[in-house]
Amino acid sequence: MARVIMAAGNWKMNKTPNEAAEFVGALKAKVEGAYSEVVVGVPFVALSDVKKAAAGSNIKVAAQNMHWEEKGAFTGEVSGQMLAEMGIEYVIIGHSERRQYFAETDETVNKKVHSAFKYGLTPIVCCGESLAQREQGVTADLVRFQVKIALLGLSADQVKKTVIAYEPIWAIGTGKTATNEQAEEVCAIIRECVKEVYGSEVADATRVLYGGSVTAASAHDLFNMPNIDGGLVGGASLKLDDFEKIVKYNG
Ligand code: G3P
Repeated sequence: MARVIMAAGNWKMNKTPNEAAEFVGALKAKVEGAYSEVVVGVPFVALSDVKKAAAGSNIKVAAQNMHWEEKGAFTGEVSGQMLAEMGIEYVIIGHSERRQYFAETDETVNKKVHSAFKYGLTPIVCCGESLAQREQGVTADLVRFQVKIALLGLSADQVKKTVIAYEPIWAIGTGKTATNEQAEEVCAIIRECVKEVYGSEVADATRVLYGGSVTAASAHDLFNMPNIDGGLVGGASLKLDDFEKIVKYNG
């Protein structure tokens, strides 16, 4: 079965609830009937308004993080159960900014992935190397390790649903996109790694996205690479026209 291309926006800490709802209200008409799956990853406080604004459209909504516990004494945290009750479809897990600034580890990523599935959310799991790691030649080892730990203990069906986003840290918000070949090379390594553990049927079904300075101009070629199934887009997903073009990357 062909993998459906995903155009997922990660807004990070941008847009107030009102701004978010207004944006999604306008995006609806622009992406109606699009071939790719459209996802917007919005701040927690905007989730409710964005869900309402997206009602009846093909726009799906993602949270940018979650805790792995269902409830309890975790001040400031939000659980998968809470997100599920709001009708949220996806959750971004293990973004490099969360690993860097909020001490997330491969182990907590794995716990969150399990918890996401427990509550019927689909995880978009991020991985990727820093510039120093790339220069040291450990990109493949690192990414394979991150992916294997993130998926540890999942069933084959869960892995098929999981979306993996390869985001080289040196390409995030820098305007320095990985070349199509660099992105394809690592996305192929990720698919191979899934295949080693779960077999080719699972690996062929699992979507692998590229993220890191994706623009309206670069999406077409990137998303047409054999092992790249779309993008996790930061800056360009905040602009209506740019994100529309990314969603409609194939013209
Ligand atoms: O998750 C998306 C991201 O980290 C890439 O951000 O701004 O480089 O597209 P950006």
